Amino acid sequence: MTPVTERESWRALGAHAASVAPRHLREWFAVDPGRTRRYTLEAAGLFIDWSRHRIDDRALELLIALSADRDLPAWTERLFSGHPVNGTEQRAALHVALRAGAGDPGTAAGAAAARATRILDGVREFASGVREGRIGGSRGMAFTDVVNIGIGGSDLGPGMVITALQDRDEPGPRVRMVSNLDPVDLRDALRGLDPARTLVVVGSKSFTTLETLANARLARDWIGARLGPQAIARHFAAATGNAAAAREFGIAPERIFDVPEWAGGRYSLWSAIGLPAMIAIGPERFDRLLAGAHAMDRHFLESPAHRNLPVIVALLGIWCTNFLGATSHAVLPYDQRLRDLPAHLQQLEMESNGKSVDRDGQPVGCSTAPVVWGSAGTDGQHAYFQLLHQGTVLVPSDLIVMRETPPGDESAHRLLVANCLAQAQVLALGSDDDAQAHRRCLGNQPCSVIVGDRLDPETLGALVALYEHKVFVQAVVWGINPFDQWGVELGKTLARSMADRLGGPASGDDSPLLERLRGTRTPR
Ligand code: F6P
Repeated sequence: MTPVTERESWRALGAHAASVAPRHLREWFAVDPGRTRRYTLEAAGLFIDWSRHRIDDRALELLIALSADRDLPAWTERLFSGHPVNGTEQRAALHVALRAGAGDPGTAAGAAAARATRILDGVREFASGVREGRIGGSRGMAFTDVVNIGIGGSDLGPGMVITALQDRDEPGPRVRMVSNLDPVDLRDALRGLDPARTLVVVGSKSFTTLETLANARLARDWIGARLGPQAIARHFAAATGNAAAAREFGIAPERIFDVPEWAGGRYSLWSAIGLPAMIAIGPERFDRLLAGAHAMDRHFLESPAHRNLPVIVALLGIWCTNFLGATSHAVLPYDQRLRDLPAHLQQLEMESNGKSVDRDGQPVGCSTAPVVWGSAGTDGQHAYFQLLHQGTVLVPSDLIVMRETPPGDESAHRLLVANCLAQAQVLALGSDDDAQAHRRCLGNQPCSVIVGDRLDPETLGALVALYEHKVFVQAVVWGINPFDQWGVELGKTLARSMADRLGGPASGDDSPLLERLRGTRTPR
């Protein structure tokens, strides 16, 4: 494949960037006040204003040409039709089928959608049973608590959905998420729980992940020691693509929910991996989440590039990373219930596009995924915004805010929105030039403002799908495979051999660090 950097449109973008880069955003607005209207778009319940990007019509035109040059329409078609777009593992990436409802069973995507529907029906039935107390534990009592054990995509996505959408006043089981191998995480989650009223869900597509299995075994011991080994089958459920391993672990076959091979870890919250979220928010709201994502899928599939939200967001990212030199990207939700979104997007973007070779195994030749980070506003304003306003680093950002005021919270919500808008303005325009040097805010930090009407399941579904497709579009432009994660494998393998060395006898080639850590003993 021709490296993207050798494309004519790439070179033209480089030349154009060099000519416009010296301009401050204040100038962009002064010469082109119409950009505040022109650089907005609305789809699937989301409105975006990207006028505060250091970009003009010419750059957008070239970026769109670049995406066409990289066969974006053909790749999108391949993604949606179930082609093995994940080349290194010869797999489709059909997360879109998980939210498509019944499709045409004659096509790969339709068959996948039909299978997803079947599996999710079982998950819905189980989640409703747990919520309504029809499905209970070994002593016939309803579950008051659910502990989900999983990591990465088997934790971040469902956890983020629960934080965003769970109605804390609604009756039903409390759901806690456990991911860390450090047993403190599980111990903290189990503290104060009644084992007879606790359901443990093991979410692991592979059912081989070290952290998850270590925690699942501890939880099994906890249940077994208190309720007897025969109780384990009644107190566990699993979402996994490895049913044999889950059965061997002791989970009853009717409580094992399949995760298809083509549902990648960081795209799996829409599958049975979403079980803890479905228990927390209920199947009906989970379905609305899927519907919101599906609306974004349709928009992505059907809209021309210049009116296509994921395409525009992706191209803005490419412009910032590859032509303005940004190395990080901040996600700043002005909504406390979206506080876990940055962590979910961090895995989505960095595990997908943190790559340096293209689909042919050749060096990509340009920067790929930036470091994604962020947290809920306004807290960040009192922590790291100083650097954004007066530091030396270029940090593009997405500010996310909901329009409608929750009843009773009018004045606080107005302040939240005001802070979001104020920060967008200062990031972009900075302060007046005549301010004293130490007070001057530099501005010129590109940012998008993304607005939803309210944080309901549809909006969240559309928002997450927007970022999924953004990642896909960027991968197509860079020519990389966003659906594998081989970089994570080496660390996993090494951890196993390190564990053997730590537990084994000292050897002559142990480093001082290893010697020191082998000496770690439980205090008396
Ligand atoms: O971090 C690597 C990874 O494979 C992720 O992609 C995945 O989300 C996570 O591990 C958990 O994997 P599993 O669901 O198989 O336990």
